[in-house]
Amino acid sequence: MTAPSTGLFISFEGIDGAGKSTHIAGLANAFKAQGRTVTLTREPGGTPLAEKLRALVLGDAMDPLTESLLVFAARRDHLVTVIEPALARGEVVLCDRFTDATFAYQGGGRGFDLDTLSTLERWVQGVPALADGAVRQPDLTIWFDLPAATAAARLADARAPDRFEAQPVAFFEHVIAGYAARAAAQPQRFARINADQPREQVWRGVVQALTQRGWLAALAQGGAA
Ligand code: TYD
Repeated sequence: MTAPSTGLFISFEGIDGAGKSTHIAGLANAFKAQGRTVTLTREPGGTPLAEKLRALVLGDAMDPLTESLLVFAARRDHLVTVIEPALARGEVVLCDRFTDATFAYQGGGRGFDLDTLSTLERWVQGVPALADGAVRQPDLTIWFDLPAATAAARLADARAPDRFEAQPVAFFEHVIAGYAARAAAQPQRFARINADQPREQVWRGVVQALTQRGWLAALAQGGAA
């Protein structure tokens, strides 16, 4: 398969414990096997500066506006120095979380003002490659949807929790509602995967979301991540 010349931007979302990581790695391998160059990255983070901001956001207490400004500052640096150049080169960008996480965590979880987040989104994601007023969004967002109580049980034995992982189940219920609102507002961009299933079945859902759109050729085997 020859590499298409247009870039592809895919983000992965879900509450902590939803189990994104192995599937992101699996998709990276699947795209590479089909001749694509893959940029595998994450938010907050993905650049030296943004990784410093990530450490602050995950480790230090702060008010929700400060938190929102820091995740968007990290996003701007990441978008301008990593994501946009990779898309311009025609690569597949797989990003572990993007702006929907801000609407879900800061908007839903923290209850921070959504209009302010939308303003920041327009400022940060307006990029020269797009026509005036357009905002960079993923071509597809794969949302691993899992009940908050199930995710909490999965995380119970995990390493020391960060500021978000330490939140109660009720916080994650608000985060889920935040994701649901984003998915309802932009349904064509979202693929909701029921993550409360065996890993192999979740993987099939992930692959199907890509093959349906013609962005990944059918895989030889159902071999998961
Ligand atoms: P996560 O992506 O789950 O990484 P890890 O698998 O290493 O724990 O952690 C990032 C955390 O940051 C997660 O709890 C969600 C939170 N977050 C926000 O609150 N706002 C954002 O805009 C982003 C991108 C992440």
